[in-house]
Amino acid sequence: MEKNREVPRDPLPQNALVVVFSYHHRNTEKIAHVIAGVLGAPVKTPQQVRPDEISDYDLVGFGSGIYGATFDASLLDLADRMPQVNNKNAFLFSTYGAPAFVATREFVEKNHAQIWKKLEAKGYTVIGEFGCAGWNTNSFLHYFGGLNKGKPDAEDLRNAEAFARDMHNKSQG
Ligand SMILES: Cc1cc2nc3c(=O)[nH]c(=O)nc-3n(C[C@H](O)[C@H](O)[C@H](O)COP(=O)(O)O)c2cc1C
Repeated sequence: MEKNREVPRDPLPQNALVVVFSYHHRNTEKIAHVIAGVLGAPVKTPQQVRPDEISDYDLVGFGSGIYGATFDASLLDLADRMPQVNNKNAFLFSTYGAPAFVATREFVEKNHAQIWKKLEAKGYTVIGEFGCAGWNTNSFLHYFGGLNKGKPDAEDLRNAEAFARDMHNKSQG
């Protein structure tokens, strides 16, 4: 019999959904799966989800790689097409390609500002946001291996897990 096998923790019971757009290196998808694992939530792309089905969930996480300093257009468009809600919680997460010294908290907030505003206009309370570095070989960067190689790493995934627990606790409170 296998010894010392790590038993995965049960997901927290929550009527939650994670919507993610991730294409460059699937960096944000890694974060999405960790968060969804904690919440016991399905992971869907903006293309897989109907705007009206989003309001069936009490907590919705929206995640994207950062492209042109904001979320992907498919998520911004989804937010525009979602119905108005009352008393629903949302959270945001992203991976960016900027080097560490640029990536302040304000930088993450700026990248999230557009989708945050759209969600608030639809009646969502945005209860938290998470951002971490992701491997970036966009444009000329691929000539020298790109920026943030190996990111998100194990520590980023642990931070994402803690963030998801925090989102769960906040949405219950
Ligand atoms: C077309 C394009 C535009 C990008 N624009 C930005 C940007 O404005 N700011 C930034 O920090 N990173 C930028 N990046 C880097 C990505 O945000 C980063 O690599 C991210 O981890 C990609 O996520 P994904 O693998 O989930 O698609 C850009 C990448 C691409 C491909």
